[in-house]
Amino acid sequence: MNDDILKVLYSKQDIDAIIKRLAGEISRDYAGKNPLVVCILKGAIMFMTDLVRELDEYVELDFMDVSSYGNATESSGEVKVIKDLDTSVAGRDVLIVEDIVDTGRTLSYLIKIFKTRDAKSIKVCTLMDKPDRRIKTVEADYVGTQVPNEFVVGYGLDYAERYRNLPYIGVLKPEIYQN
Ligand code: PRP
Ligand code: MN
Ligand code: MG
Repeated sequence: MNDDILKVLYSKQDIDAIIKRLAGEISRDYAGKNPLVVCILKGAIMFMTDLVRELDEYVELDFMDVSSYGNATESSGEVKVIKDLDTSVAGRDVLIVEDIVDTGRTLSYLIKIFKTRDAKSIKVCTLMDKPDRRIKTVEADYVGTQVPNEFVVGYGLDYAERYRNLPYIGVLKPEIYQN
C-alpha cells in the first residue's frame, strides 16, 4: 500500500503527539462551554475522531461537507456545500476542525457563513497549515503543524479520493499526479 508514497512526513505517533498538545489547549479554552465541533468532511474525519477522544470536556459533534478541489490537485476556487449541518450554530461556540488549510478558500467561506448564522464564537483547529499557498487571508486558532508545499496524502487526505485510509501522512510521488 506504500508504493505511491515518496516519504512519510508524520507517522501515527507524530500525529498522536500533535493531537495530545492540541487537545490540551482546546480543553482548557472550552472548559464548561459545550462547544459544537464541526468536522469538515471528508478530509478531517480521522483527525476529528482522534482529537475529540483526547478532550477533557464534553462537546457536541456535527458534520459539514464542502468541496473545492474535485479530483484535481489544485483548488477550483469554488466552494460547494454538499452536506450542511443538522445543528443550528446560533449562539454556539463553534470549533471548525480541518485537516489542512491550503489556499484558505474553504475556511474563509465557512467562517463567513457561520457568522451570518450568528454563532457566538468561531474558532478553527487544523492539523496542518500550508501558509505559502494562501490566497484568502485566514488563520487557524489551533495549528498542529506547518507543512511544506508538497502533495500530502493519508490520515483523511486524498488524491482523487485515494489514500485517505493510510494511517500516516505521506508525500505522494509526483509521477502519480503529473501526467
Ligand atoms: C481539502 C482539505 C480542506 C481544503 C483545503 O478538502 O480537506 O478541506 O481542501 O483547501 P483550501 O484551503 O484551498 O480551501 P477537499 O475540498 O479536497 O475535500 P475533501 O476534504 O473531501 O478531500
Ligand atoms: Mn476537506
Ligand atoms: Mg480532497
